Amino acid sequence: MKIAIIGSGGREHAFAATISKSPNVKEIFCIPGNAGTSQITTNVELDINEFDKIYKFINDNSVDLVVVGPEQPLVNGIVDYLEKLNIKVFGPNKIASQLEGSKIFTKKLCQQYNIPTANFGIFENRIDAKKFLKHTKYPNVIKADNLAAGKGVYICNNEQESFMAVEEIFDGKFGKAKNVLIEEFLKGEEMSYFIISDGSTFKAFETAQDHKRALEGDNGKNTGGMGAYSPSRLINNDLEDKILSKIIKPTLKGLSDLGTEYKGFLYAGLMIVENEPYLIEYNVRMGDPECQTILPKLKTDLVEILEACCERKLAQKDIHWVNKKSLCVVLCSKGYPDAYKKNVLINNLENFNLDKDNFVFHAGTKRGDNKIYATGGRVLNFISLSDDFLKARNEVHQCLKKLDWNGGFYRRDIGFKVID
Ligand code: AMP
Ligand code: GLY
Repeated sequence: MKIAIIGSGGREHAFAATISKSPNVKEIFCIPGNAGTSQITTNVELDINEFDKIYKFINDNSVDLVVVGPEQPLVNGIVDYLEKLNIKVFGPNKIASQLEGSKIFTKKLCQQYNIPTANFGIFENRIDAKKFLKHTKYPNVIKADNLAAGKGVYICNNEQESFMAVEEIFDGKFGKAKNVLIEEFLKGEEMSYFIISDGSTFKAFETAQDHKRALEGDNGKNTGGMGAYSPSRLINNDLEDKILSKIIKPTLKGLSDLGTEYKGFLYAGLMIVENEPYLIEYNVRMGDPECQTILPKLKTDLVEILEACCERKLAQKDIHWVNKKSLCVVLCSKGYPDAYKKNVLINNLENFNLDKDNFVFHAGTKRGDNKIYATGGRVLNFISLSDDFLKARNEVHQCLKKLDWNGGFYRRDIGFKVID
């Protein structure tokens, strides 16, 4: 088989590494990929939003299966586009991708199907939004409706902060804004819950906890994710039953009532408040860095699972996991999530003797004159599997010490809630 992976982050390197273990795979392409994927795939320099060029490449190279990593092409309808041209592609269609593409779409679905989520209001202009904000409780949460790459969410402690958020959103800071969403602030602990679905059947695909803030102790700015561990410390049978019956199943029913279905990974970002799940957001893809944290635990052949989904045969496929803890630390460029230097040389990457329980997945890296350079905010992911989280983190820290890269920083406290 020939497989093309779309994307260039740590998630996509983890996909590539996992897919490369499948005995059925002859060749992997990564569009556009990074320095890490270039070691195991053929990187293809194409824009992930130029569907016609992607199709041409896939067709010219007789690719059998396309796996889409990031949300942008999914929300823009890459699955519908390629399927019309008879290409097998793993990911949700354009209508289903609104679960991530439009927060208001998701909120309305929650309302209609009684899915637990923060109370909210939708406002079409500044005047109505501000009128509401004069009589609301703080803190509250103000969100732009459109995809904003993890930005576009303000936690506001007073009227002044919330007015500023409304102004910035309607001024177009995150693209043209028709609406603003004002939400109740939920106090609890966040957890990422994943399923994989073939449109008729779905299966759980592990849990994790991300660390979104840039600095230790969950301080500093929001980032794409500074590290994760899996499984989540919050998951238990009772909670999982509630997540499935109150959130996942009604969502899939809602899509079916709209005349569509969900094929792909679905990532529910949850707030757990006293063992009760509330939906904060949906993502129509695997998480990053959760994907890098979870995939090393997968025992079943990932390609067989993805193919079963494309053929609507997931019901016949069991998914098995290694019974270990996994922990991932993300090494970032100094300055991230604000401005950082690009094209900084990374030495020592060849020093690693990685074994079956230790992994390095690249994110913002590129290869040039046989050296590796950092080009992005999140640069490398270090993952370790172990019997306990502390051992896993110690292993990861050993690797980071060996790398000794002075262009970067990382949080030393990933997993602090599960490690004393
Ligand atoms: P989102 O892009 O919707 O995932 O929001 C980004 C982050 O803001 C989430 O990961 C949460 O940490 C936080 N957040 C969003 N909505 C709420 C809420 N209603 N209550 C508390 N925190 C929230
Ligand atoms: N872990 C955050 C995200 O993938 O959106």
